[in-house]
Amino acid sequence: MRIGPLTIQPDVLLAPMAAVTDLPFRTVCEEFGLGLTITEFLSANAICQGADKTIAKMTPSLGGRRFGVQIFGREPHLLAQAAQQALHIGASLVDINMGCPAKRVVAGACGAALMREPELAQELVRAVRAALPPTVPVTVKHRAGWDERHLNAPEFACAMVEAGAAMITVHGRTRAQGFSGTCSREIIARVRQAVPAHVPVVGNGDVVTVDDYFAMRQETGCDAVMIGRGALGNPWLFRSIAARLAGRPDPGPPTIEERRSVFVRHVQLICELTPERRVLHELRKAVAWYTKGLPRSADLRDRVAELQAPVAIMDETMQYFSALQDRVFRNTGPADAGQDDPRAVREKLLAPRTSIDNDQRPVA
Ligand SMILES: Cc1cc2nc3c(=O)[nH]c(=O)nc-3n(C[C@H](O)[C@H](O)[C@H](O)COP(=O)(O)O)c2cc1C
Repeated sequence: MRIGPLTIQPDVLLAPMAAVTDLPFRTVCEEFGLGLTITEFLSANAICQGADKTIAKMTPSLGGRRFGVQIFGREPHLLAQAAQQALHIGASLVDINMGCPAKRVVAGACGAALMREPELAQELVRAVRAALPPTVPVTVKHRAGWDERHLNAPEFACAMVEAGAAMITVHGRTRAQGFSGTCSREIIARVRQAVPAHVPVVGNGDVVTVDDYFAMRQETGCDAVMIGRGALGNPWLFRSIAARLAGRPDPGPPTIEERRSVFVRHVQLICELTPERRVLHELRKAVAWYTKGLPRSADLRDRVAELQAPVAIMDETMQYFSALQDRVFRNTGPADAGQDDPRAVREKLLAPRTSIDNDQRPVA
């Protein structure tokens, strides 16, 4: 897929998700070969005021990989200024959130509320477009409409493109639906038909399997698919989609050993990139994601909820995976050790912390 001057391959993106798509999570997904990740939505006002917590979330991808920054707000000059800061840290594109249904966001007439003010939304796109060099596309992510009676996504998308948006992502639910009910692929198809062919339209909503991915592409004609919740604890979905798009067989779901290994990788990234005060919380989330659906994982989550030391959580989870492997490999011998060494990560969890504790994260 081309977004203005950018080529994105494969045609699958990680959805921005607040409190989820931090740098460790984005990195794990990127390592499975998706097209692009985007930061969670960041308040343009907060960025412009220099709010540390918000600015700490505006992180470049590791290894020089391309990434997008998503911003929200309703004041054109603040969005323009925030976009320039995103450019300053190396963002390849700036996405404007016009789809968030959260009360606190729409109460400020931001997020999905902008679908009721298409002229102001256009002004925002124009302001951000004017603030960035032509090599950095401005994109918009929005919903099907405000509610069932106001399904204005096709007209709205065209208005955004007219104002300068180089890609449209549509989550096929209304603001009124929040995350309930089903995602309408029909409205995404209507947006694809309405928007000029050279502007990519990305379909989003309820894609959790490879089959869902291809159904979304086929039923809507969209140029790429953005996946959010389906990637939680399942970055292998990106590997499967990339393989199928390249004409290779789907490698299928991960083995227990792969799950263990990617969990260790995720913990390693949390150690390196997450401020200490958030480490416990992030570790518990990672345990829940990587053990989702496995035998007795609820018991593990309960035990981990009681533990107060990161290293104890790591040990408990390693024991859990070992016990599972023993069951799986009882007749065939143990699995290979895998690439990520849990002992090295364990040392990191025990090591004294340094600068990132002040939200000063390393820049890629
Ligand atoms: C926990 C959570 C946080 C989210 N935060 C954002 C956000 O910051 N920006 C945004 O555009 N959408 C956000 N979304 C919406 C997702 O990007 C996506 O549009 C939605 O989850 C539907 O896709 P899915 O069914 O693949 O999850 C969030 C969704 C979830 C579940």
